[in-house]
Amino acid sequence: MLTSTLTIYTVLMLITFFSLEKGVELDHHWVEFDDVRYHIQVSMKNPHLLLLSVSLPTPSSETIFVRGLPFGAIEAIKAAYGNLVQILDPPRDGYNLTLKFNLAKLPANPDQKHAFMVKVASIREVVLGAPLRVILQHLAARTVAPDLDPPVALVHRPNECFFLFPQADKVTVVYPMRFNDSIDIVLATSFLQEFVEARRTAGLHNTPPCSWSVTPPLEIKGVPSDALSANAGFVTFVIYPRHVEGHKLDRTVWNLSTFHAYVSYHVKCSEGFMHTRMRRRVESLIQALDRAKPDAENSKKTSFNRSFKRLGLKDSSTN
Ligand SMILES: *[C@@H]1O[C@H](CO)[C@@H](O)[C@H](O)[C@H]1NC(C)=O
Ligand SMILES: *[C@@H]1O[C@H](CO)[C@@H](O)[C@H](O)[C@H]1NC(C)=O
Ligand SMILES: *[C@@H]1O[C@H](CO)[C@@H](O)[C@H](O)[C@H]1NC(C)=O
Ligand SMILES: *[C@@H]1O[C@H](CO)[C@@H](O)[C@H](O)[C@H]1NC(C)=O
Repeated sequence: MLTSTLTIYTVLMLITFFSLEKGVELDHHWVEFDDVRYHIQVSMKNPHLLLLSVSLPTPSSETIFVRGLPFGAIEAIKAAYGNLVQILDPPRDGYNLTLKFNLAKLPANPDQKHAFMVKVASIREVVLGAPLRVILQHLAARTVAPDLDPPVALVHRPNECFFLFPQADKVTVVYPMRFNDSIDIVLATSFLQEFVEARRTAGLHNTPPCSWSVTPPLEIKGVPSDALSANAGFVTFVIYPRHVEGHKLDRTVWNLSTFHAYVSYHVKCSEGFMHTRMRRRVESLIQALDRAKPDAENSKKTSFNRSFKRLGLKDSSTN
């Protein structure tokens, strides 16, 4: 599973440690997944106050933002951080959200302190996942969130969104899958088909049913076509109340809001795997060629021979 929180979490732990223990001034910029920027500040004067500014991916025009944030974000922040947080209005220049954490109020118990910092490090999911959480909480209660015109578009990457079609007994989630380069598109397409097939055949009754299609599913027919440009097809999940009951809600919100990153991660891994395999194939081909050479050729010092040999040596040293 993705552990995107780890990097920002590590930074936060170091910062709280150094500032609380040593009263060090800190000013740190951080980028995650190439689309969310963070700015973390602690001043010498008030070492127990941590300012965390967040810049969110630019939403596409279909998404509903309320005063610069996804709907439900303010409530989600208050629910997650309680009285340790103050939301600054307006946020720092160049950011969409600035939170002031009062670290003096952190629980003394190390486990609780740790749990809280993990939550601070998950600010991306708290904010971007807020509308998803609102809709899925309604599903858990078998109702539909009011004032939402389906399909509901939620931002997850710059200028890209995924779509929710909420009903009282299920929520359909559709991801138009876009990738940047032609190799990624090919790998992602086959990965997604494999992913859907594997889940179907494994008979995973507890995980949401999932499908893949080349064309947009019916649920998002009304959406403007530029929001539906996908070069690796469409993935659809159907979420039922049993997937969001009690503690399962958090996991489902996390899985759905990181789905694109999850696929990208696997695409990058298979790219690395293919490069390794290709290199091995070239090496064994060279060995086979060398072995197949008639004896008479051995004495002929051709440049063709030399270049092959050099490639073989260089390659084995990089493995
Ligand atoms: C987020 O902040 C940036 C920089 O200030 C701004 O350009 C952008 O419009 C903001 N996004 C929203 C949705 O308000
Ligand atoms: C997509 O590709 C273009 C050009 O190939 C590059 O400039 C851009 O940064 C890439 N975007 C992402 C998100 O990788
Ligand atoms: C979330 O993802 C994890 C890991 O891929 C999986 O084990 C789990 O079943 C998923 N949960 C839901 C509710 O989809
Ligand atoms: C050409 O290949 C043969 C057989 O592997 C080898 O003995 C010979 O030294 C090579 N010649 C050069 C110039 O590398």
